[in-house]
Amino acid sequence: MSLLELRGLCSNVHPEDSEEGIAILKGVDLEVNLGEIHVLMGANGSGKSSLAHLLMGHPNHRITGGTMLLDGEDLSEMEPDERARAGLFLAFQYPHAIQGLPVGTFLKAAVEARRGEELSFRVFKRELDDVMGRLGISKEFLGRSLNDGFSGGEKKRNEILQMHLLQPRLAMLDETDSGLDVDALRLVFKDIREIASPDNAFLVITHYDRVLDYINPTHVHIMRDGRIVKSGGADLSKRIDEHGFETVLAEEGVDE
Ligand SMILES: Nc1ncnc2c1ncn2[C@@H]1O[C@H](COP(=O)(O)OP(=O)(O)O)[C@@H](O)[C@H]1O
Ligand SMILES: [Mg+2]
Repeated sequence: MSLLELRGLCSNVHPEDSEEGIAILKGVDLEVNLGEIHVLMGANGSGKSSLAHLLMGHPNHRITGGTMLLDGEDLSEMEPDERARAGLFLAFQYPHAIQGLPVGTFLKAAVEARRGEELSFRVFKRELDDVMGRLGISKEFLGRSLNDGFSGGEKKRNEILQMHLLQPRLAMLDETDSGLDVDALRLVFKDIREIASPDNAFLVITHYDRVLDYINPTHVHIMRDGRIVKSGGADLSKRIDEHGFETVLAEEGVDE
C-alpha cells in the first residue's frame, strides 16, 4: 500500500470561506511511498501550495472530485489534527507573526497534537534540549515570539526543529514564492538528507528548478494548471537541472 495515493484529485478554493469556489486542482495523480523524496515543481499559480493545503485540511480548500488516501485511509474523512497524528506534516512559512506566542510553547502544542497526548513540561524540555543541542540552536530561540521578525534562516530553523521533534511520515515543505537565500536552502536540504529514512517520505514543493542543485530526489513532478503534467526520476531531474522545467515541458510537447 502506498503512503500517499492521489487519484484524479480535484479541488476548489473558497477565498475567505465564501460559498463560491474557484476550481484549482483539475485531476492530480500522485503516488508517494516510504523512503522516497519527491520534488513538485511548477510555475507560480499552478496549484502546488493549494495541493499541500488541501492535504492538510485547510478550511479554504475543498475536495470536489477524485480520492486522496494516506496509508489507504481517506484523508477527506479525517480532521486536520487526525491528519497530523497520522504523520502528515506541512512546514508552513508562517506568513503571520504571532506576538506573544513563544516558539517553545508552539512546539510543545505541535508535538502534543502529533502524538495525541499531553506532555509534562519536564519531559518535553528534556527532549527539546537534546534536539536543540544536536542542531546547535541556541536556547534563546525558544523564548522568541513565533515568526516575529524572523529572518528567512530563522523560519527555516523553526521548521527544522519541528521536523526533528514531530518525526513526520510524510513531510511536505513548501518553499512558496518568496526567495529563500542560498544559505537557508542549504540548511533545509542538509536537514532533509539527515532526516530522510526508509520510514518517511518527503514532498518538496518549489517553483524554482535550482533546488535540484541541493537535493537528489527519487521522483520529480511538474505541475501546470492544477495537474501534474510530467513525472520522472533521476533522468528527468537531470534534464530539468540542465535546461529548466519549462524547456523540458516544451521538448516533451506539453502545451501551454
Ligand atoms: N485563498 C485563495 N483565494 C483565491 N485564489 C486562490 C487562493 N489560494 C490560491 N488561489 C489561486 O489558486 C491558484 C493556485 O495557487 P497556488 O496553489 O498558491 O499556486 P502555487 O503554489 O503553485 O504558486 C492561483 O491561481 C491562485 O491565485
Ligand atoms: Mg505556492
